[in-house]
Amino acid sequence: MADVYTNPEKHVVLSNNVKMPILGLGTSHDGGYSHEAVVYALKNCGYRHIDTAKRYGCERYIAQAVKASGVPREEIFLATKCWPTDYGTTTTKEALLGSCERLAVDYLDMYLMHWPEVSSGVKDRKQLLQETWRALEVLLDEERVRVIGVSNFLERHLEMILEECSVVPHVNQCEFHPFNNPKVLRQFCADRNIQFEGFSPLAKGLALRQPSVITIAGSHEKTPSQVLIRWSLQSNVPSIPKSTKLERVMDNSKVYDFALTQEDMMTLDNMKQSLTCMDWSSIQTKIDNPLPDGYKLKIVKPPLEP
Ligand SMILES: NC(=O)c1ccc[n+]([C@@H]2O[C@H](COP(=O)([O-])OP(=O)(O)OC[C@H]3O[C@@H](n4cnc5c(N)ncnc54)[C@H](OP(=O)(O)O)[C@@H]3O)[C@@H](O)[C@H]2O)c1
Repeated sequence: MADVYTNPEKHVVLSNNVKMPILGLGTSHDGGYSHEAVVYALKNCGYRHIDTAKRYGCERYIAQAVKASGVPREEIFLATKCWPTDYGTTTTKEALLGSCERLAVDYLDMYLMHWPEVSSGVKDRKQLLQETWRALEVLLDEERVRVIGVSNFLERHLEMILEECSVVPHVNQCEFHPFNNPKVLRQFCADRNIQFEGFSPLAKGLALRQPSVITIAGSHEKTPSQVLIRWSLQSNVPSIPKSTKLERVMDNSKVYDFALTQEDMMTLDNMKQSLTCMDWSSIQTKIDNPLPDGYKLKIVKPPLEP
């Protein structure tokens, strides 16, 4: 078994005792998908956690990359997400089974509700979110999934789930980098034993140009990207940087051979909150818009086999 599960620095232990590798590989339809990069991440860089979503449209390509890597399925922590138009008692189960089919697996490691928003035609959002959460609890019970959680949920959204749930969400995945660090939400999650996980750790590349990040990187002879990922790891926040380029996938994995000082951490912990990648105002339109999953997907390096 890969050392990510035996080395305590390389995973977090969730409230149900499942070990989640603290470093994962992001994939999405935004900025492209590279088969070669995913194979390389698994085979050559030691990644054992892949983050995706039905919406990204690349689940079936990930199945091909996992197969091509030769890494056993049970070593990989595979996380995907349920899109709001699939929310509901039976539709959530169908969506999970569809993701399993595309990913060529019979169980998922983690399944997240992608957004707290729902189709605008829905009369009772709270009821639909609660029903969907109940469906996830059943899927957990049926061992279709090992970890259930939510994404982009603020305190008020989590409260709706906590009111009725029998399983407290194991994870809440949200935007997280020094320029968007929701400290109050993180504490809210920590107080309830919900693991806060971060996406867009590089602020889609924008954080790499920030002078304080560049200075800290220089002082450790590391890259700005490694500093940002290391900051997340030292903050106990799992991080899922995404790259379609082999050298960057490798670069982003070399985060265990140095440590940020207390002063570095304080500097990054106290940055001006000036970068938000996620455009919340467009989410409702995206949910209500009939565009197919993966509508933006551009394959940078295609799988070798069809
Ligand atoms: N739950 C959600 O709603 C949600 C939302 C957004 C993202 N996510 C997840 O989080 C993952 C990561 O987020 P993200 O893709 O938005 O942003 P990110 O990981 O912060 O940044 C990705 C961008 O940075 C570039 N990059 C990566 N490594 C680099 C390096 N070492 N040096 C220079 N540039 C580098 C990539 O370009 P190249 O590809 O050209 O290298 C890409 O443009 C996604 O893939 C997805 O799995 C989840």
